[in-house]
Amino acid sequence: MPRILAVANQKGGVGKTTTSVNLAAGLAGAGKRVLLIDLDPQGNATMGSGIDKRGLERSVYQVLLGLTTVQSVRQQSESGGYDLVPANRELAGAEIEMVDLDNRETRLKSALGTIAAEYDFILLDCPPALNLLTLTVWSRPMR
Ligand SMILES: Nc1ncnc2c1ncn2[C@@H]1O[C@H](COP(=O)(O)OP(=O)(O)O)[C@@H](O)[C@H]1O
Ligand SMILES: [Mg+2]
Repeated sequence: MPRILAVANQKGGVGKTTTSVNLAAGLAGAGKRVLLIDLDPQGNATMGSGIDKRGLERSVYQVLLGLTTVQSVRQQSESGGYDLVPANRELAGAEIEMVDLDNRETRLKSALGTIAAEYDFILLDCPPALNLLTLTVWSRPMR
């Protein structure tokens, strides 16, 4: 099983995305199989991985809503040498749209379970908030 590392802090502009992208590239450069997941609607980790957030057909948003598989969404970051699950501003609506969905806080965990064996590290770049998107990273049932 991979090591799963979440880079999370409620404050913005503190270096989460910079840490995530550079850690992903550094681990990939050391020969590790790395998956980086962008969980921020700002899509900065996506852009920082050399993938244009404006041109995405699918993103982590569709995975969380159960509309597609994580396999169909991930892309290769050619500049970084790792795989990326991208995000863009579509994700901003996910929290509200997931309110009525079952297992909303464990959907990311379930999706990652289907590809975890392919990686040595899975890194999660969280949004600057303690919202549902960040909570999905911990996958504890909400009460
Ligand atoms: N170690 C660092 N030293 C100096 N500036 C940094 C460092 N890490 C990040 N930055 C800068 O701080 C700003 C915010 O970083 P970012 O990674 O986007 O933060 P976050 O993802 O937490 O919002 C960016 O302009 C980035 O270049
Ligand atoms: Mg960020």
